[in-house]
Amino acid sequence: MLVVFTALAPQPAFSAPATTIDELVEMYKIDKCVECHKDLNDIHSEWKDSWHGKSIIDPRVLKTWRTFILSGLDKSKGKRRDLKDICLPCHAPQTKDASDELVVKIADLVVTAVDDKDAAKRDTAKNELSKLNINCIICHNLKSVPDGKPEAGAVYGPKGPEKIDPTPHEEEKIKSIKSDYLKTSEFCAQCHHGCPPDMPSSICPTLFTSYKEKFLAHGGKETCQECHMKGEDYKSHKFPGIYEVDHVKEGIDLKLNVKTTEYVYHLENKVVPAVVVKVDVTNTAGHGIPHG
Ligand code: HEC
Ligand code: HEC
Ligand code: HEC
Ligand code: HEC
Ligand code: HEC
Repeated sequence: MLVVFTALAPQPAFSAPATTIDELVEMYKIDKCVECHKDLNDIHSEWKDSWHGKSIIDPRVLKTWRTFILSGLDKSKGKRRDLKDICLPCHAPQTKDASDELVVKIADLVVTAVDDKDAAKRDTAKNELSKLNINCIICHNLKSVPDGKPEAGAVYGPKGPEKIDPTPHEEEKIKSIKSDYLKTSEFCAQCHHGCPPDMPSSICPTLFTSYKEKFLAHGGKETCQECHMKGEDYKSHKFPGIYEVDHVKEGIDLKLNVKTTEYVYHLENKVVPAVVVKVDVTNTAGHGIPHG
């Protein structure tokens, strides 16, 4: 039974850290989850195409990490291993179970994936890195409880075993646990704020402080999930943001009032046609936009 538990979820703290990407992937593998969940709804494919599904190999992230490694870490007292404490805790939190040597290897792969002259080497490096992302286990186990100490092997969900048919999970020896925290904005803030939840914008200005101070404080009610996980039959896992045009339209209410007129162009003493444009832009998102 223990074997099944450890195969599905993070290894208990006493086990040795992973020394290869494949070992790390094994600790956090989602093959079983996908087998069932791809037929229940579209959560798996939605997630795979989302930014969470490519949280390292997103080209912007890869290139910025390359620059940070070469011009930040390598040129200062920093070590490539420090990526483990600086960027990886949010972009691939499973690396907390990686050995320092593996973290250095990940950093090397990032540089290869962007800068290597050989296209085949760049592709191989990118393929390796694509195995690391923010997957089901990260959100439904590792980040599901506020104290950061989830039960190994359990799956935390918004409804809990009383409200779902627990049989399929039980048959796979997966314990279902209800997590109210998953439904809160503080859950997202673990990565989208990165500072302790109560830290104000004067010290840590983030999308989350703008959400609390500019949206909640002025009567806004929705949680991050209510705007970003909207779905017909189930909570969507696409997590649209600023690159999804339809979603951006929801966040900006733009009114243009255009009137034609004419005016005298004083340098030439000519009457020329002109327009007067009145622009009303209202931000209807739950926070400042654009925001990073
Ligand atoms: C506290 C969690 C956290 C840490 C630590 C973190 N990131 Fe991010 N990063 C995020 C989140 C969340 C987003 C998506 C937010 C957004 O797009 O508004 C993001 C997005 C990005 C993007 C895309 C942004 C864009 O709009 O182009 C880049 C590039 C990036 N991170 C690089 C890094 C690098 C390099 C480091 C380490 C120096 C790092 N991140 C550390 C959470 C984090
Ligand atoms: C044998 C099939 C099966 C496997 C394997 C499986 N699930 Fe499920 N899961 C289900 C079914 C069926 C439900 C109930 C669907 C519902 O009621 O919405 C469910 C419900 C859930 C829920 C919602 C629970 C709640 O409390 O709201 C989450 C989250 C979840 N699964 C995640 C996972 C993850 C993560 C894995 C892999 C570790 C996994 N599942 C493996 C079949 C499976
Ligand atoms: C970025 C975090 C994140 C990732 C990654 C993630 N989930 Fe979720 N998931 C959530 C949150 C948050 C909820 C609860 C939303 C709510 O009810 O407000 C949820 C809800 C669910 C539910 C219940 C849906 C419903 O409407 O009843 C299922 C099932 C589920 N997730 C399965 C999965 C599976 C399978 C994967 C991997 C393919 C996955 N999730 C990846 C955050 C995540
Ligand atoms: C484990 C850390 C983590 C958690 C938890 C998390 N996110 Fe993210 N999220 C990220 C990172 C990192 C990115 C950027 C990935 C990239 O651009 O490659 C991101 C990207 C996004 C984007 C797309 C941003 C863009 O630039 O358009 C949205 C929207 C988003 N997250 C919403 C949420 C919401 C809502 C929750 C809570 C239900 C949540 N996230 C939970 C780390 C996280
Ligand atoms: C009232 C609805 C609403 C709420 C609440 C809300 N968002 Fe958004 N969010 C939006 C819309 C709409 C956009 C797209 C608008 C744009 O970026 O131009 C957006 C954009 C984003 C982006 C991309 C921003 C960028 O500039 O890269 C991220 C990341 C994000 N939201 C995360 C969150 C998180 C985390 C929370 C909770 C703390 C949250 N959102 C709460 C509606 C909402």
